[in-house]
Amino acid sequence: MSHHKLFALFLVSATLLGCATTRDAGPKTAVVIGGGQSGAPLARILKSQGYEVRVMVRDPSRVKGLPDGVQVVAGDVTNAASLAAGLKGADYVLSTIGANCVPRKPFAEGGSPADVDYRGIEKLAAASKAAGVRQLVLMSSLGAGDADPKAALNAMCGMVLEWKGRGEASLRASGVPYTIVRPGGLKPFPGQPECSEGKEPLALYSAKESRGPGTVCRADVGLVMAGALGNPAALGKTVNLTADKQLPLEGWRAAWAAIPRD
Ligand SMILES: NC(=O)c1ccc[n+]([C@@H]2O[C@H](COP(=O)([O-])OP(=O)(O)OC[C@H]3O[C@@H](n4cnc5c(N)ncnc54)[C@H](OP(=O)(O)O)[C@@H]3O)[C@@H](O)[C@H]2O)c1
Repeated sequence: MSHHKLFALFLVSATLLGCATTRDAGPKTAVVIGGGQSGAPLARILKSQGYEVRVMVRDPSRVKGLPDGVQVVAGDVTNAASLAAGLKGADYVLSTIGANCVPRKPFAEGGSPADVDYRGIEKLAAASKAAGVRQLVLMSSLGAGDADPKAALNAMCGMVLEWKGRGEASLRASGVPYTIVRPGGLKPFPGQPECSEGKEPLALYSAKESRGPGTVCRADVGLVMAGALGNPAALGKTVNLTADKQLPLEGWRAAWAAIPRD
């Protein structure tokens, strides 16, 4: 090979390497799906950790409680085209959405757990795969996959646990690197004061294990979801999450490693 060709090859390789290094070195883009009670604290935590944060909501005019510098985009998990547009350039996707369940009221058109927690998550996983997303972290629920119609949440909310189980399964089958977090009852409960992350010890353990019901602050769920990003010990795992006063405050951070992959 002539000197000229060698030099040209060197320039091309150096440029390509430079691009790769720049993309890897810059801040990562994290797209939070849903700007509700769990999406807002998660967006705040990600922003404080240096991510470029984008929040996807159905109606941007109703968004409140997001920190400055967070981009808001319109999108709906039942609409694949909106997902493709909203996930452009995303490194990570974190879903906090779920069907809006009002006891004894019918679901809005296209808003049932089958539409949102199952088919919506299936669409989100497919769009994430197509966008080359590095990891999708899904906020699910303790007991997801329970198909017992007498289980309280199933009875109150259109078999939501069963549909969440199917949504989880579609994510596992999608080929997108993933982490699934199944929290217990979410605090603050209606009418209770706000809670913030890092105040209560957390039990993070395999979803194959049963330790009964429990509760956890939404902001702590955000802390754990953010902590899963880029963490090899969190990949391909489904975990339960509740507060547990018996444990050391920061112990959950080391708990990932002992949890088996799905
Ligand atoms: N409540 C509990 O005790 C509990 C326990 C365990 C797990 N979970 C699960 O944890 C998650 C978060 O619960 P949360 O109570 O914090 O949430 P939330 O405040 O009710 O927020 C849910 C969000 O989902 C969005 N959403 C609904 N349908 C959508 C769609 N088709 N496309 C895009 N977004 C959609 C809603 O958007 P809009 O604002 O546009 O309606 C809302 O912002 C849910 O999956 C829930 O089932 C809840």
